[in-house]
Amino acid sequence: MTAKIKSVTIIGLEAVPIEVEVDIVKGLPGMAIVGLPDKAVEEAKERVKSAIRNSNAIFPNKKIIVNLAPADIKKEGPSFDLPIAVGILVASGQIRFNDEKQLFLGELSLDGSLRQINGVITAAIFCQENKIRELYLPAANAAEASLISGFELLPVQTLDQLILHLKDESKIEPQQETLIDDLINNSKTSQFDMKYIAGQEQVKRALEIAAAGGHNILLFGSPGSGKTLLARAFNTILPRMRPEEILEVTKIYSVAGMLSHTKPLICERPFRSPHHTASSISVVGGGNWPKPGEISLSHRGVLFMDEFPEFPRSVLEALRQPLEDGSICISRAQGSLEFPARFILIAAQNPCPCGYLGDEGHECICSPTEIVRYRKRISGPILDRIDIHLEVPRIKYKKMVSKAKNESSKKVRRRVEAGRRNQILRFHKAGIKTNAEMGIREIKRFCQIDNNCEKLLESAMDSLGLSARGYHRTLKIARTIADLAPSKFIKTEHIAEALSYRPKEQKIFA
Ligand SMILES: Nc1ncnc2c1ncn2[C@@H]1O[C@H](COP(=O)(O)OP(=O)(O)O)[C@@H](O)[C@H]1O
Ligand SMILES: [Mg+2]
Repeated sequence: MTAKIKSVTIIGLEAVPIEVEVDIVKGLPGMAIVGLPDKAVEEAKERVKSAIRNSNAIFPNKKIIVNLAPADIKKEGPSFDLPIAVGILVASGQIRFNDEKQLFLGELSLDGSLRQINGVITAAIFCQENKIRELYLPAANAAEASLISGFELLPVQTLDQLILHLKDESKIEPQQETLIDDLINNSKTSQFDMKYIAGQEQVKRALEIAAAGGHNILLFGSPGSGKTLLARAFNTILPRMRPEEILEVTKIYSVAGMLSHTKPLICERPFRSPHHTASSISVVGGGNWPKPGEISLSHRGVLFMDEFPEFPRSVLEALRQPLEDGSICISRAQGSLEFPARFILIAAQNPCPCGYLGDEGHECICSPTEIVRYRKRISGPILDRIDIHLEVPRIKYKKMVSKAKNESSKKVRRRVEAGRRNQILRFHKAGIKTNAEMGIREIKRFCQIDNNCEKLLESAMDSLGLSARGYHRTLKIARTIADLAPSKFIKTEHIAEALSYRPKEQKIFA
């Protein structure tokens, strides 16, 4: 008899249905797996064989043919172990059940216990959308899958336990659905809270604007001036994640295999800081079996790139598309794949290779050519996508030891959230969420200014050499400053402040 067991494979962030067909025929004992299996699927043979033998079941001493259909999709990873084992038990008549509405996923150990797998949330969403009645998966993945409702979730510890369940001898207790709201109400103070950072009021103000409008930031400053510290604190003032964002981000971490039993949910905005020696694939995503890279792992959060000019050109240029579209398209032999990648970029760099150009306390030892070469590593199109350019000055001793109380992140976050609300109301028809995402059309529509503002911008264009790009960037930041004020219209003081965040390259060279 042949058995047909339902399962899924994960391609990008999508679950694709796979049917595991098992037939037991006459012939020399052995097992063949067909249907484009990769190495890990191929090795399922040995794991399944041992697992069945070490459970209260018999591994048939016949020829077993396993077909993973449809045959034109490549199958990856060890998650087919469980459906293959169940298929063998059904095909050999050891268990029987109506196999219409069940879906199985799981890697087997040789002793028959189940091991954690990746991409379970995606599979659970598939079950919800396709009216699957029962989802069987490793117990270690149950917490993650329980965020999705609409089916019975059965956490399996061992193959033995599953056999008894399917034979109706001893039932597995279904896992109850977890409500996201129950998991996100833990508001501990982060160790990176703004209140632990002395002084730097101007920088903090700029970070508040960036957080409110979703603007990318470039931080300049000599080593030890506090760039890393400020970037980490930035995360604590971003608006809290909404439930749908939590699910969106958790899905990416699930596929990347970065969730654990104890942390099944990403409730805090991600903060990722890849090192500049990281490979292009690990930053951007991709690989033989495409996995999300750092830019997707920082989706809805922050991508912090310290020592920005040290990153290889290929990595920096690859950032252009995601910075524009909020997603990354990865081409592969079987068509292209898309991963979301809407993050706020915080780039940090020293003003020159030695780090001390313009520093009052140190002398810079770099030659002008070295400085030019260092600065040139970041191309115009990348700089153009960074709205706020900010100098982080070295903090004075008096400020550092001052007893003055600093504002807490919680307070700043409240203002940021209010500023964001204004944007959501304004953009609800435009299909964007933040000021940073505005294109020319939205800028024309939502950033109208009066004559005084026009005059100010005009003189800035002349005296500061503000380009057309700089003009639009300034308007976007001014819009955010007005949203924080809150003010319906952009006023001259908002434009004036926005102008102070435009690139200061020229000044640093002078
Ligand atoms: N404004 C500040 N308030 C408190 N500590 C600071 C401040 N600025 C710098 N520090 C201290 O200096 C250390 C170095 O800062 P860091 O952010 O790593 O500098 P950078 O990244 O610019 O080289 C921090 O870990 C922190 O202890
Ligand atoms: Mg640093």
